[in-house]
Amino acid sequence: MIDESNGYESIAEIYIKGRGRAVNGIGSSTVRAWAGSFNKGSIILDLGCGTGIPVTKILLEAGLNAYAVDASMKMVEDFRQNFPYVPVACESVERSSFFDRSFDGIIAVGLMFLLSEETQRVLIPKMAAALNPGGKLLFTAPLDKVEWKDVMTEKDSRSLGAEQYRYLVSASGLSIGEEFHDEGGNHYFNGLRPS
Ligand SMILES: C[S@@+](CC[C@H](N)C(=O)[O-])C[C@H]1O[C@@H](n2cnc3c(N)ncnc32)[C@H](O)[C@@H]1O
Repeated sequence: MIDESNGYESIAEIYIKGRGRAVNGIGSSTVRAWAGSFNKGSIILDLGCGTGIPVTKILLEAGLNAYAVDASMKMVEDFRQNFPYVPVACESVERSSFFDRSFDGIIAVGLMFLLSEETQRVLIPKMAAALNPGGKLLFTAPLDKVEWKDVMTEKDSRSLGAEQYRYLVSASGLSIGEEFHDEGGNHYFNGLRPS
């Protein structure tokens, strides 16, 4: 069977015990600040949600409604136990049926650089198109154009670099929002769909 999780299904047990239980894990305060910028009840899609901890949990605590997607079955099983009332699909972002819907916000923490360059180039406009007017996009990727092996999965990862990400965000019809850097050195790109 093809692994669409880019290696995360095979290391899910280890991941779940670490980041997957870290309610105040790296980036939590950055995600919390972003979540606080929405009206209560806004609908947010968490792409590559893992166990939903910490990201989906923060969205819910901010009074937002979440939808979530992850390609790893083990991650999704854990997510369902953590958040039984949140709709979560076990599917790849490449094929997710949630892109038939529209959202006030889309967040992808720790996902973008796991995908092939081509998939990243397709995903950014796809996320932008699924945003409601006034909607916001937040995703993490290194600022520099760089390739490396993911420490957990040992699979190839790649950042297209800040210039390309900003270009792809604005070419998708979004304006570039304020960018952030968290305590773990992760960079957050931010796109805003005009109202
Ligand atoms: C580094 S983890 C980040 C999880 C979570 N967002 C967090 O911040 O803790 C990456 C997640 O993306 C998922 N993933 C990887 N490739 C994917 C794909 N093509 N479609 C959907 N999910 C994917 C993995 O299964 C894993 O749960």
